[in-house]
Amino acid sequence: MKTSRLLCALLLIATAVPALAVTKTLVLPPDGVQLKASPLPGYAKAQVNCVACHSAEYMLYQPATAPRGYWESMVKRMQVVFKAPISDADMPDIVDYLAKTYGSEQPK
Ligand code: HEC
Repeated sequence: MKTSRLLCALLLIATAVPALAVTKTLVLPPDGVQLKASPLPGYAKAQVNCVACHSAEYMLYQPATAPRGYWESMVKRMQVVFKAPISDADMPDIVDYLAKTYGSEQPK
């Protein structure tokens, strides 16, 4: 009885250890990544509206093939789900900047 309990405990430790190792080696993204500069009017608006809660690193993680509609729903998601105070009037410019700077409309 005692032995099986010990075995059980050892088994638990053995399965828990790899999980711990993964957590320990997790590398957090560097802070302070800036938005890519652009002459587009949406650049300044994105600086005001899009990096208050997280760094611009988040844009880099999106697929470069993401079309305009993807960015549009992303900006809407920030507004609706996370309560980002983005005015509807600024949205088209911001989406335009994002699609042309990080998405499918980037210059080749
Ligand atoms: C009010 C705070 C806030 C503002 C302002 C904000 N975001 Fe976010 N954003 C978040 C949160 C919270 C997450 C989810 C974080 C996580 O999952 O770790 C997120 C995640 C993201 C992601 C990662 C993909 C995803 O769906 O999780 C992208 C890309 C992004 N935001 C883009 C933007 C853009 C573009 C703007 C400006 C239009 C913006 N954010 C403004 C809070 C905000």
